[in-house]
Amino acid sequence: MAVDLCIRDVRVLTGRGLLSGGIAVDGGKIHAVAKEPNLPKASEYIDGEGYVALPGLIDVHVHCRDQGLSHKEDFTTATYAAAAGGFSTILDMPNNSPPTDSATRLLERMRAAKRRIVVDVGLYGAFPPDGREVARMCEMGAVAFKINMMSPITPVDAGDDAVLERALRWARAHGRTVAAHPESRDVVERLSLELRESGRADVLAYAQAHSPESELKAVDRILGIALRAGARLHLCHVSSGRSVPLIARARRRGLQVSCEATPHHLLLTVDDLVRVGAIAIVDPPLRDRGDRARLWDALAAGAIDVVASDHAPHAIREKVRDEVWDVSPGFPGLETELPLLLTQVNKGALTLERLVDVFARNPSRIFGLTGKGELERGYDADITIVDLKRRFTIDPSGFHSKAKYSPFEGMEVTGRPVKVLVGGRLVMDEGEILAKAGSATVLRRTR
Ligand code: DOR
Ligand code: ZN
Repeated sequence: MAVDLCIRDVRVLTGRGLLSGGIAVDGGKIHAVAKEPNLPKASEYIDGEGYVALPGLIDVHVHCRDQGLSHKEDFTTATYAAAAGGFSTILDMPNNSPPTDSATRLLERMRAAKRRIVVDVGLYGAFPPDGREVARMCEMGAVAFKINMMSPITPVDAGDDAVLERALRWARAHGRTVAAHPESRDVVERLSLELRESGRADVLAYAQAHSPESELKAVDRILGIALRAGARLHLCHVSSGRSVPLIARARRRGLQVSCEATPHHLLLTVDDLVRVGAIAIVDPPLRDRGDRARLWDALAAGAIDVVASDHAPHAIREKVRDEVWDVSPGFPGLETELPLLLTQVNKGALTLERLVDVFARNPSRIFGLTGKGELERGYDADITIVDLKRRFTIDPSGFHSKAKYSPFEGMEVTGRPVKVLVGGRLVMDEGEILAKAGSATVLRRTR
């Protein structure tokens, strides 16, 4: 009996290291990972050309926009960007127009996504004011919930400790992880006002307003609330090295907590903000070299569980403003993050094993993405094939994202995704998108 597909001549990253051989795929699942002579016959073959096959990569922090924000990005351009960047699954943030904050809106967004996507997409919800609505959103398949402590998505996000604790208990009751954007609104608003009134309008003033202390305060607060609620917490884009020990301490006290770092906080500093200007404005902002070094230590030590892009596209006119205070924070990241981290693997700053932990295994575990995150028999046939030696210069004009700018523009990188398979289908080949919009799956988490 022939299987559907065999990928031949790849070095497969398995739980037991790199194996030279191939991957057999049948019915959209991995049938076998084996040395060449032991592979079954297949109806179709893909030549892996000796490249490295990784579990399909997962980005847990993507703003796909679409609906009322389609001028920034839509599900097609976001998932094209994901596929081109080496990602077979992305999780979509709920700060949309309308926000993804009810079962009806979640369903509408799932329907919009279904028609347009080329990689698998799971959806975050934002908290409605009512626990029964949270239950309905979970029944519908919300993958996780998101709280933004600085720019509230719903009134719950801006609530006092008791309101947040109640929301975290709802999430816990349904086994859903809560992802939090940790910046203190009080601190940022106070500092922004002070700096504005003193006449400051430069990019450094923006970074000063979003101070590391604001992050520490918010991290400390949400950790305390999560401990009381017994909820599973994921801290988005930790930017200050000093947040890491707070998280480690809460973990020792029994909290199930994970955290994420972005490629921009790992690789850029406030010097780049000054060099690049408004394009590099992001929440939380780029930090100093000390913070960046502490993030690398934490990543190497396993204290940072996930790397995610915080892909946050805006129209260029929303980035380039007269007043720094009017600049929309964020920039696209899906098409740069893997080459940037593969470059670090090539430099010896990160192992390929750790890269797969932070881009696949841990995301799958933390967000309950059953069947994803490993190249093992029975898992979804989501596969990212990379050429570790391919060198190129980052050129945003070639992005699939609608946002064709990047603080990494002009950077030389080594390492590139060359093929992405989603459920056994070849979606991206040498930068070209082969899949039809609507061919991928909206992930519905059932528990
Ligand atoms: O820079 C950011 N942009 N940080 C966020 O938390 C939100 C995001 C966005 O939606 O634009
Ligand atoms: Zn974000």
